[in-house]
Amino acid sequence: MKVVDIKSDLRVNLAPRHIKGLHLSNPVIAASGTFGYGMEYEDLVDIQSLGAIICKGTTLNARKGNPQPRIVETDCGLLNSVGLENIGVDAVVREKAPVWADWRVPVIVNVAGETIDDYVGVVSKLEGVPGISGIELNISCPNVSRGGIEFGINPELAAEVTSAVRAATSLPLMVKLSPNVSDIGEIAMAVEKAGAHAISLINTVRGMSINVTKGRSSLGNIIGGLSGPAIRPIAIYMVYEVAKLVHIPVVGCGGVVTVNDALEFIMAGATAVQVGTANFTEPCVSLTVLGGLRDFMRKEGIENITDLIGCAKQGS
Ligand SMILES: Cc1cc2nc3c(=O)[nH]c(=O)nc-3n(C[C@H](O)[C@H](O)[C@H](O)COP(=O)(O)O)c2cc1C
Repeated sequence: MKVVDIKSDLRVNLAPRHIKGLHLSNPVIAASGTFGYGMEYEDLVDIQSLGAIICKGTTLNARKGNPQPRIVETDCGLLNSVGLENIGVDAVVREKAPVWADWRVPVIVNVAGETIDDYVGVVSKLEGVPGISGIELNISCPNVSRGGIEFGINPELAAEVTSAVRAATSLPLMVKLSPNVSDIGEIAMAVEKAGAHAISLINTVRGMSINVTKGRSSLGNIIGGLSGPAIRPIAIYMVYEVAKLVHIPVVGCGGVVTVNDALEFIMAGATAVQVGTANFTEPCVSLTVLGGLRDFMRKEGIENITDLIGCAKQGS
């Protein structure tokens, strides 16, 4: 074992093509929809030590979400059909951003919509608001009956919404892709060309489960999105594929629970990782993963986390 007395540098920049960049003190991020607006976790976790926090998907108007039941556990995962319940962008600007403005941890707003005008409307309202460090464009939510998913599964539409939003915001722009496609590479290249500063993937995998006692779907919305360790191999594969094709940072997401999981994503080509479902069972999980990354780097004599990014691409 190589034990070297070095100071590990975990800093990453998620938007090197952006004039200011999107600089994180470390690559462990709380994923959208699993960490509220950050403050909900403040008493349980040292949230300021996270790399970033991505808030719940934000729409132009407040949304009530889908009918109950909206969450069901599956083997090694979770099916949800929350359906973008959120307080709407005006309330985010009024109530949440002023709190974020005093935080050290960068907050990225996850933006969702049904039309290009919706997306542009949301980012326009976020423009110049202190406390917001970047945008994550959710073109991949599988839980709304109209819109959203259409953008994520079609390269032309994905590019169209990306360039419209890029033109409407001066903030770093990360586009979050759906795994529910046959060719993730063409979507990734389309959004890169349209001006995305980074790509995050994956959102949930479309799924369903039946309550056999009732003889109907376990979810009020019938279908949902699968998350958690069950989807990790799909996510690792997609990160690996996309990282080979694009020249902007890729942020991996899907089933991260341990440091080993995070290392898999980074070695597959991810610049950073998002931790989602695991927050529900272990609120401190991200900080445990972060500590594990630091220990791994010290043990292996790695000074800079960026030296690990994509190392699995270089040989088998
Ligand atoms: C209850 C729940 C709500 C979610 N809400 C959002 C959302 O609003 N916007 C979004 O882009 N992703 C959302 N996601 C997807 C997660 O951010 C993440 O992409 C996905 O769950 C895979 O990561 P995980 O396996 O670590 O959970 C949600 C996931 C869950 C479980």
